Amino acid sequence: MPSSAALLQTQAYYSTAWAAAAADPARFWGDYARQFVWRKPWQTVYQADLAKPDIAWFSGAELNITENCLDRWAQLQPDAPALIWEPSHPDDAAKTYTYGQLLSEVTRLAAALRGLGVQRGDRVCIYLPMIPELAFAVLACARIGAVHSVVFGGFSPKSVADRLQDAGAKIVLTATGGHRAGKPIQLKNIVDEALLSCPGVSQVLVLNVPAIPAPMQPGRDLDWATTLADADANQGYAEPMEAEDMLFILYTSGSTGKPKGVVHTCAGYMVWAHFTFTNVFQYQRGQVFFCTADVGWITGHSYLLYGSLLAGATTLMFEGVPTWPTPARFWQVIDRHKVDIFYTAPTAIRSLMAAGDEHLQGADLGSLKVLGSVGEPINEEAWHWYHRNIGKGRCPIVDTWWQTETGGIMISPLAGVTPSIPAHATLPLPGVVPMLIDEHGAEVTGNPAQGNLVIKQAWPGMMRTTYGDHERFRQTYFSAYPGQYFTGDGAMRDADGNYRITGRVDDVINVSGHRIGTAEVENAINAADGVTESAVVGRPHDIKGQGLYAYVVYANPPQDHVVAHAQILAEVTKQIGAIAKPDWIQFVPGLPKTRSGKIMRRILRKIAEGDTANLGDTSTLLDPAVVDAIAQHRLT
Ligand code: WTA
Repeated sequence: MPSSAALLQTQAYYSTAWAAAAADPARFWGDYARQFVWRKPWQTVYQADLAKPDIAWFSGAELNITENCLDRWAQLQPDAPALIWEPSHPDDAAKTYTYGQLLSEVTRLAAALRGLGVQRGDRVCIYLPMIPELAFAVLACARIGAVHSVVFGGFSPKSVADRLQDAGAKIVLTATGGHRAGKPIQLKNIVDEALLSCPGVSQVLVLNVPAIPAPMQPGRDLDWATTLADADANQGYAEPMEAEDMLFILYTSGSTGKPKGVVHTCAGYMVWAHFTFTNVFQYQRGQVFFCTADVGWITGHSYLLYGSLLAGATTLMFEGVPTWPTPARFWQVIDRHKVDIFYTAPTAIRSLMAAGDEHLQGADLGSLKVLGSVGEPINEEAWHWYHRNIGKGRCPIVDTWWQTETGGIMISPLAGVTPSIPAHATLPLPGVVPMLIDEHGAEVTGNPAQGNLVIKQAWPGMMRTTYGDHERFRQTYFSAYPGQYFTGDGAMRDADGNYRITGRVDDVINVSGHRIGTAEVENAINAADGVTESAVVGRPHDIKGQGLYAYVVYANPPQDHVVAHAQILAEVTKQIGAIAKPDWIQFVPGLPKTRSGKIMRRILRKIAEGDTANLGDTSTLLDPAVVDAIAQHRLT
């Protein structure tokens, strides 16, 4: 008989727990947190002043999250598989690490890092492909109390450098290269280029991937295998950390051009990752969990690694992409490893749906019990395709709404326990008290309702600060509605209280489930030769959910549009990475601006969407004629 690790196993109990956590958070979370391994108990479950903001959970406690992810399972179930790694190429062999083996890998790397002088509180940048060493690296940092900052492998040298500088990292963990869709990808040379502007980095630990060699810089670069072999095995012990010590920084895009370092701390994040993993997915002991997100994003942190390991589950890490060598790759991986829970993004679902159902022929998928979706709104067509073709009509879908900032899932069905409704994230988890705010800043009570989504109370997994800039943290999240957390998303609530997330209401766009700040892309475009200014907006895209539509103004109209177009794409790739390349680039004579010089993005969005008949009042514009010129030449 499978045994459930979830606290909330009936809808009635969900409702009771939600009310209890809202009424007395200290009691609810204090009770929940007793199941973890603590070196020292807490004194206060929580203190939170969201107006300041000043947030602390489990103050006074000491713990190490890796003792909860690894040591306790290595004792209870040393031979249970902890991590399965499926390589990019289907003919290469998968690898499995038991809890015992994963603990020893992490301990060895932890010892090596200590041997290199990395100390508690030091920031470590991790720039690795989706290989087991990436998991070891994250956990080894956590073990010695170093703060990991994982940078997604698709970011450019400049993006890596910005993140390294902001975090003040002294060491980078990387590999000579990796694989993407059958092609070798150089990683080390990206780090080399980034480090030209990061004099603070004195050490680079380099994993040698033999098929993709890279030159080493003597005195700075260290070989991974040799360093591990030389390390003192006794130095891999778990550092006792204070509850509110930083666990990691993860950079994400916001409304300004500068990515912000979202800070999560040890205890609250641990409790939230475990609570949300076990309850949302209704995890049963022994199940295999396949999260397709890269560890470079928050979903990879909270569910591919921390949440699943905290629950003692088997987590599957996949180096490849959904469509290579064929669009049947995910289904092969699911069948090969008898995956029980599958968690992916709507973009992947839509692209596999578009590839045609013939790729499902021969796929069994009989092991699946629960399906999840994350990162952007899932449209009804994709939801139904996922439910029918992948879940065979028998697997509940959890449409999980959350953010890098929230640490873990906030609004979601509990698989098979509370109802799944197409395209709805449905109900808030215990600990999450959402509300909707209208355009005048007033709470919209009653149902149905619509407004900006705000969270009223502190929850254990919430971010604690923006690294190095607490004022930015306050300003971004707590100033629109003082004392409350503003998500940046809009939402609707139906007659039964179910939430449906409608999307961002700020200058952040979810492209293929990746967060992109329009200001970052504009900065990059403006760096291209001859460009005076630009504006980037989102436009619905069949596969990506949202695509980027760029309006670009040149000092002198470009002679050759094809060349100018290519230059812009190259500049964006150089400054940010290929993920931020605009899908549409329109050269325009000017941008619609108010008399005070503010770009009217609302109008640009409407034009991009093709809604040129409803541009609203343009009379307040500095130069209304520019709107007609733009609308006439809009790209289809
Ligand atoms: C969007 C990803 C609708 C939302 C975990 C949010 C969603 C942003 C959903 C955060 C969902 C995430 N339905 N929209 N189920 N999940 N989003 O920080 O706009 O990469 O604010 O975290 O993704 O993106 P982030």
